[in-house]
Amino acid sequence: MDLFTFLASKKTPVDLGELIVSLADACRLIAKELREATDSKHVGTVNLSGEEQIAMDVRADAIVGEHMRACQYVAALGGEEMAEVEVVNQDGRYSVFCDPLDGSSLADVNFSVGTISGIFEGKEVIGRTGRSLAAALFAVYGPKTTLLVTVKNGVHEFMLIKDEWTLINENLRVKDAKYFAPGNLRACAERPDYLELVNKYIMEKYTLRYSGGMTPDINHILHKGGGIFMYPGTPNMPDGKLRLLFECAPMSLIMEEAGGASSNGKIPVLDVKINNYEQRTPIFIGGKSEVQKCVDWCMLGA
Ligand code: F6P
Repeated sequence: MDLFTFLASKKTPVDLGELIVSLADACRLIAKELREATDSKHVGTVNLSGEEQIAMDVRADAIVGEHMRACQYVAALGGEEMAEVEVVNQDGRYSVFCDPLDGSSLADVNFSVGTISGIFEGKEVIGRTGRSLAAALFAVYGPKTTLLVTVKNGVHEFMLIKDEWTLINENLRVKDAKYFAPGNLRACAERPDYLELVNKYIMEKYTLRYSGGMTPDINHILHKGGGIFMYPGTPNMPDGKLRLLFECAPMSLIMEEAGGASSNGKIPVLDVKINNYEQRTPIFIGGKSEVQKCVDWCMLGA
């Protein structure tokens, strides 16, 4: 079944369905260009987060931008590579936030990378929380090109087969499984609680599954039925590195919709108030009881 037909069968509003299909088409093109991109060198610019951009970061951002500007339902567009939120159409109904190429520094070594996006109904998101997301999705560019989508009705997976997004998995579910993905391990040098938590996973013989990219790491949890991905803050950077609007909120909606959970160490990430577009948050995301263990263990919390 194709993406639009599937979304319609889930009673997705037609405009939201068309917007998601447009984002999915951007992902299809990003996948194609990634496969043919030979230049993974830095282009000499940094994004708002201070990360050096490669040519594909710039290209992926342009592809998403072109698609969103052509979609009449988009009111506003924000992205990791954009200086500010762009008003696309005063009459649009949705605000779209996107990390066009998550983990792009891994592209040159041929690791999996991804695109993450969250869609809110309305023109303004400041003062709201991730709970008001209408939909979220991420694409994974690996041996297969896949797309995981939620319209708050479970998490469903599509695969690019003969250039068409085709349903391959309905209702992915997450419980608990002994996999751990400890992001920001450097924090152990300053946070004895995080070092202890990581040691606990080692001593309990959890299997390490960490790629260095949030998208493939979360995708692993969703496919293996559980596990935990962590990216805590440090005393100098208490909110860590990962962005609330482009990464953590959409991923948290997807994880909750799959039966898992996500916390900043104190409260669910979806309940964190959005104060600004570049906001960062620590994150512990995966199976419900795994997330609870992290919250209990990390006495410093967020
Ligand atoms: O935010 C981009 C990202 O590449 C994530 O996908 C990943 O989890 C994280 O950064 C890795 O961060 P670090 O470079 O600190 O290991």
